[in-house]
Amino acid sequence: MSRKIILMLFLLLSAASVPVAARKVKQVDRRAEKPVPEVEKKVIAVQTAHTGLVLIVHKNGVVTMAHYGKKVLSPDEFMEFNSHQGSAYGNREMAFPTQGGSFLGTPALSAVYADGSRNTELYYVSHDSSAGNGVVTTTVRLKDYVTSLEVALVYEAYQDEDVIVAHSEITNPSKTPVMLYDYASSSMVMPVRKALLTHFWGSWASEMNVDRTVLTHGIKTLESFRGTMATQNTNPSFLLSLGTDRFDENAGEVIAGALQWSGNFRISFNMDNSGRLGIVSGINSRSSEYKLLPGASFQTPGMVWTYSAEGAGKASRNLHDWARNWCIYGGGKINPTLLNSWEGAYFTFTTETLLRMIDDAAGMGLEMFVLDDGWFGSDFPRDNDKQGLGDWELNSAKIPEGIDFVARYAHSKGIKFGIWIEPEMVNPRSNLAAAHPGWVVRSPERSVPTQRNQWLLDLTNPDVQDFVFGVFDRTMQLSSNIDYIKWDCNRYVAGMGSEYLGEEQNRFYLEYVQGLYSVMRRVREKYPDTIVQCCSSGGSRVDYGALRYFNEVWTSDDTDALARAFIQYGTNMIYPACVTGSHVSAVPNHQTANVTPIKMRFDMACSGRLGMELQPKNLTPQEREFASAAIASYEKYRDIVFGGDLYRLSSPYDDPLYSFMYVSKDKSRAVVFSFNLKYTNRDIGGVVMRLRGLDSGKKYTVTELNVDKSCWWGSGKAFSGDFLMEGGFNPRMFKLYESSVFYLEAK
Ligand code: DGJ
Repeated sequence: MSRKIILMLFLLLSAASVPVAARKVKQVDRRAEKPVPEVEKKVIAVQTAHTGLVLIVHKNGVVTMAHYGKKVLSPDEFMEFNSHQGSAYGNREMAFPTQGGSFLGTPALSAVYADGSRNTELYYVSHDSSAGNGVVTTTVRLKDYVTSLEVALVYEAYQDEDVIVAHSEITNPSKTPVMLYDYASSSMVMPVRKALLTHFWGSWASEMNVDRTVLTHGIKTLESFRGTMATQNTNPSFLLSLGTDRFDENAGEVIAGALQWSGNFRISFNMDNSGRLGIVSGINSRSSEYKLLPGASFQTPGMVWTYSAEGAGKASRNLHDWARNWCIYGGGKINPTLLNSWEGAYFTFTTETLLRMIDDAAGMGLEMFVLDDGWFGSDFPRDNDKQGLGDWELNSAKIPEGIDFVARYAHSKGIKFGIWIEPEMVNPRSNLAAAHPGWVVRSPERSVPTQRNQWLLDLTNPDVQDFVFGVFDRTMQLSSNIDYIKWDCNRYVAGMGSEYLGEEQNRFYLEYVQGLYSVMRRVREKYPDTIVQCCSSGGSRVDYGALRYFNEVWTSDDTDALARAFIQYGTNMIYPACVTGSHVSAVPNHQTANVTPIKMRFDMACSGRLGMELQPKNLTPQEREFASAAIASYEKYRDIVFGGDLYRLSSPYDDPLYSFMYVSKDKSRAVVFSFNLKYTNRDIGGVVMRLRGLDSGKKYTVTELNVDKSCWWGSGKAFSGDFLMEGGFNPRMFKLYESSVFYLEAK
């Protein structure tokens, strides 16, 4: 027998000994290998006036990210860039890393297909850009050639603000559903060996504390799983100082990000062994796997990015500009000063109480009165927080004359009128809870945990959405004189369960937020001019998703001026001062028992949207006089607080004298706030504060406001911007809780 025949016999015999199924798999595998079309190598540049993001499309269709940072002059040069990474290495700089293929890091997308397969590999299909109105939108289309799953990466580049908003759109053109287990909005990867992460943590009455940590190898994750009140413990935002372990306001490279989502979120920072930092951000998919039906698309929320080569200060200013110009509802407008009834009256008031508060508000020069919690519920009067939520009819025992009477009274005094609602909630002791037990978020056969004595309504249910919209709508019908709604939300999701969703409980967290946004869209269609405040036990829903529908936020239930220094410092790192409601309250403070001078309370409140939240009749004549003067002087400069550039001159964490300033866009005016938060020693009194952002060639008259005798020798005189920025300004403020407001105006 020839050697050839022996070999053939051997092959036949050995094939016969292999089980049929195994042989089939081998053959199918070889035949089914789908080729990925080769493409032309190219660079995709997403640029703003000073920043840029560069993607490379490789010949094999893989799209990687080469750069995010300063705008590069010739992005095409990145075409030559060789990362020295072999394909066997695994974690390449994928523009949108997926679970599957050779990628081993944190995926932006993981999908499970009908046949159980868990691999997704995305390759370039096409891209295009369109420009208009200061925004260039670039869409990069990717595809998995085996499963047909399509992903579009969309980058909106806001030219003047140096902001890029990124999101993804995932489409399933196949005939079977695809389960998405991770579906991030955005992924960034950059060669970073050292970085200082600044992020925000908190709790009730202590939101937006600043944490700074140097990233180490491994994964650091910021996340929320609270469903509602998603930002109480962690905010979906951060700043990243690159190449350093120091936080610097004015120098160095800083990247900042913020997610536009009001529910569960996850932002992970993965510093890997190759010296690369991958940042994956989006909705927190825990317990929220998404079933993408055949033919359906899923759009993720926007992730807002900015880059600054001039420290953290510029990163904040970019975000503020973008937010005011493009995001916040009514962003360019000035919201009125106000007196809120909560800390002054809580649940205990009559019509008479409200009318006198309106008189006092108008008398002090405030522009609006807001009636907070407690005005509704008849069978279960809302006289405390244990009952009545959900029953949105007037409590006529308290206000027999009706809301319209009170609102008209406010208008007759020349001020606006606002009112509080909490439409997403229900007290167990209410007619609503009895009428609609199926609307309550609860897990069948388990006890329903209350939080602040209340349950959450299931906003995934369209009937509940109609009801929640109806609460807003009916409240507005109580009077044609309602100018402002304070929308509160005082509990998180626990013991999650939706009767409406049946077996598809995975849809709950996502569709709750979508339900909220859909209600808000209806609100905005019908009430475009009503000012709506986003409150959630204070600042537990502060994000750029909600702010598309709300004019401002209630920054915190902590109104202590000392605590507010920290809360507002953190909040304003990401969100501009025009949205931060900030109120003067009574002393001892109701949350902290701290006693601060009325001047400090006003000075702090005047650095945001000024309000008062106390019983004015308890003010002394001197305090009332001071209040009127401070309110009048606020009107002189508040346009700068609302629309100017924020420069943080020091930090409440690191410096005993905390100072910051706002400069008008044309640099002709500015206002400087300073607070002594910690007595150090008398030498600190004349600390030199180098002002920022002024025009060095301009001469500014500097005047301290609301004092008989200024703490600075230069008050009332004129100085060049140069002198003020180079060390000429040294107000004497050595005592604890001393504060000052200086107004600068160029001739
Ligand atoms: C929580 C809010 O943060 C407060 O300002 C106040 O409106 C109460 N709710 C009313 O219940």
